[in-house]
Order: sequence, then structure tokens, then C-alpha cells
Amino acid sequence: MIETKTNVHLDEMSREEVANYLSETVRPEDGVIPAYIMGDENVNKLEHEKIFMKTWLLLGHESELPNKGDFITRDLAGYSVIVSRGQDGSLRAFYNMCTHRGMKLCRADKGNKGQFTCPYHGFTYKNSGELIGVPLQKDIYGGQLDMEKMSLHNVTLDTYKGLIFGTWNENPEPLLEFLGDFKWYLDIVVGRTEMEVIGPPQKFIVHSQWKIGSDNFVSDSYHTMVTHGSIAKLGMVPNAAYSKKGYQVHVKNGHGCNIGMPNPDFAFPEELIPEYKENLSSDQFELMSNVKNMIGTVFPNLSFLVSHTKVKGKLISNTTLRLWKPIAPDKMEVMTWFLVDKNASEDWKYRSRESYILTFSPSGIFEQDDTEVFTDITQAAAGTLPIVKNFNYNYTMGMHREPVKDFIGPGVVYPDKFTEAGSRNFYSYWLDMMKA
Ligand code: FES
Ligand code: FE
Repeated sequence: MIETKTNVHLDEMSREEVANYLSETVRPEDGVIPAYIMGDENVNKLEHEKIFMKTWLLLGHESELPNKGDFITRDLAGYSVIVSRGQDGSLRAFYNMCTHRGMKLCRADKGNKGQFTCPYHGFTYKNSGELIGVPLQKDIYGGQLDMEKMSLHNVTLDTYKGLIFGTWNENPEPLLEFLGDFKWYLDIVVGRTEMEVIGPPQKFIVHSQWKIGSDNFVSDSYHTMVTHGSIAKLGMVPNAAYSKKGYQVHVKNGHGCNIGMPNPDFAFPEELIPEYKENLSSDQFELMSNVKNMIGTVFPNLSFLVSHTKVKGKLISNTTLRLWKPIAPDKMEVMTWFLVDKNASEDWKYRSRESYILTFSPSGIFEQDDTEVFTDITQAAAGTLPIVKNFNYNYTMGMHREPVKDFIGPGVVYPDKFTEAGSRNFYSYWLDMMKA
């Protein structure tokens, strides 16, 4: 029997008290995740400070900035940053704030610029951050303005296989260590060959708590046969039981994925097999050759989906990334990127895009299935009803099972996808960060 508390008011607690209350009540190791963590404003504030201001977060994909001078502006934990490819070809990120009086320097989503001019008083910065122009400088500052000290503020940035991550943490765990063994799986998703993003990422608002998205992708394959039951009825996958077969994997730092296997047909462009073999180990290539889908989450809020479906009678693969960006406890902005294997034929890319638009794009039939569920869970968890404040979700699925030892990839691996081990691992790391 799970004990709960009554009359707990998180809004009257200090940050330390909230963290202590989380320690007492969030018990992933027992499969106990309280509903209040999905709707509480104080938990949301603490997440921003302890998680989103501390960890690596996705900013975009390198193919969005292929040329010198290309830039994108993105949100990093609620703050605007400019990611820019300098004249030397390297990527840099800056806080999108003019160092004169703090105006937002760049208001475009993307473009190509060697320099940025502030819309307020016209200070001009190189795309490598240095302040290089101040209108009437000699006259109005008497030549005394120390422009060298007025460069844009750098934001820490690093990349892995085309993914651009940023962090506000001044002393972060190196990105490669943060990703750890999960790199082995990410390689198949974004490093199997040179990947490119087609079109700008799409953004949409969902009235959902962000963790529901991350949690769904990290370990919830169980919902597929019901929530997405129409995927089988439409003949796009063989049958409703397809979602159980395969493996679930998790690694340190809360990352995890679900690998649907086996797949008798190779759904990637066959002419790229030599490239795949060059970029992947033989074990990674073997796994990739057998997958029918891969769904996962890089902690905290980057999820990916490689989905193989039949469109117009032909099997085709599509690869997407999505970011669940919290706006409020009950609201997030979702950003979705669609990627293709850059050297695939135009026909393959077209068909892959068609399958993405039909299935898991913002307007896709199956994306709608998920966001309906996310919204309803969020609504049920909101507010002050005592039965909700003291209610615990059941995350005990698969606790009786032992991981397998002979899987070809790293991590803790279960021999089918119907377990909540990945979610327990996600919330365990979430709790560690919230208590830190
Ligand atoms: Fe940018 Fe003054 S605030 S030039
Ligand atoms: Fe789903």
C-alpha cells in the first residue's frame, strides 16, 4: 500500500522543502510517481532552475546552418540565443541581447548575416560576437568606449553527429559523457550517414506538461496498440501486437529508447548501405538492418522517432526529432524536425516526407492521437483536488523482470518493449537533479 500525505501545500514551502518532499514522495524504484509533479507550479519552477538551467538542451541541427554566415535563433531554457556559423566555419552561440542596453539583438528565426545590427541604437556585432560598430562613437563617447569589453555573451555549445546542444551550466559535464552509452543508439538515428533537416522545424503549442512527452517516448510502447490502434487497421503496420516485440534500453542520466524488432525488410535507402557500414560498427549496422522503429528520449526533453510504415503499399522510413519545451506546468511548445539521409534519392526523400506528414508530423494522424492523451492527463493532474494531489501513478510494469545480458548494444536492456523500466530510470535521474 502506498502512503500519501494530505494538506501539503508546496506553494508555502521553501525550495529545499519542495526538494525534500519530492525525495519522500517520488519513488521510481518502487514504481511510484505522484501526479502532483505534473501540475505543480513550484515543481515547475524548481525544474527550470535545477534541470533546464543545468543540463544540455537541443538547439538545432547543423544542416540548418550549412553556410558561413547562416544563423538561427532558438530558445534555451526560456532565453533567446543566436546560433551562428562564423566566417571560419565554426558554430558559436550567444545570448540574444545587445550589450548596450539589452535589446533583443536579432528578431528573425533564421537567415544569413556576417553581422547583426541592434534595432534600438544600431550597435553592430560580427557574427563571432565582437562589437565592431557604434553610431557616432567618436563624437558621443569621445573615443572612450571600450568596445572590446562589449562583445556578446557566449553560450556554451557542443555538437554530436549534427545535433547542436547548448547549456547555461558554466561547468557542465562534457556532452559526450552526458550522452554516455546512449551515443551508440543515437548514432543509428542521426549518425548513420550525413543527415539533413528538411524545411524549418515546425512549432506548435500543446496544453500538456512536458514530462508526459519525454516519458511517453522513453518507455511507453504499451500505448501504441490502443492509442495508435488505427495504424494497424489502416494496414500501415502488420498487426496491433507489433508494438511489444523488440527491446527496451536505458542508460545513465535518464536516457532511453525502445527498439521495435525484427523487421524482415530494410526500410532505409539500400544504395546507402556502404555509407551506413562506414559510419556504424558492424553491431550497430546489424541492429539498424533489423529495426522497424526506434523511439527514445535524451534527457530531459529531446525525443526521437524512426518509424517504418507502409505508405501507398511501399515500406518507407522516416526520422524525426522533437523537443518538449515547457512554457507552464500545463503547456509546452513542441518543436519537430524532419530529417532525411542526405545522399538518398529525391524519390526516397519525397516518400519519406510523405510518410512523415501522414503519420507523426504536427498534422499527422498519430501525432494527434498522442497529444490528445497528453492534454487529458495534464488536465486531470492540474488543480488542487486532494485526490489528485495525493494520487500516485502506477509505474510498476516489468519490475519483476531481469535485463538480458547478451544484447548487442550497451545499457540495461529488456527483451521486449512493454516495461516501464525506462520511465523509472528517467524519473530517478530527474529526482537526482531536483535534489542536487
Ligand atoms: Fe542595442 Fe542600444 S540597446 S544599441
Ligand atoms: Fe504515441
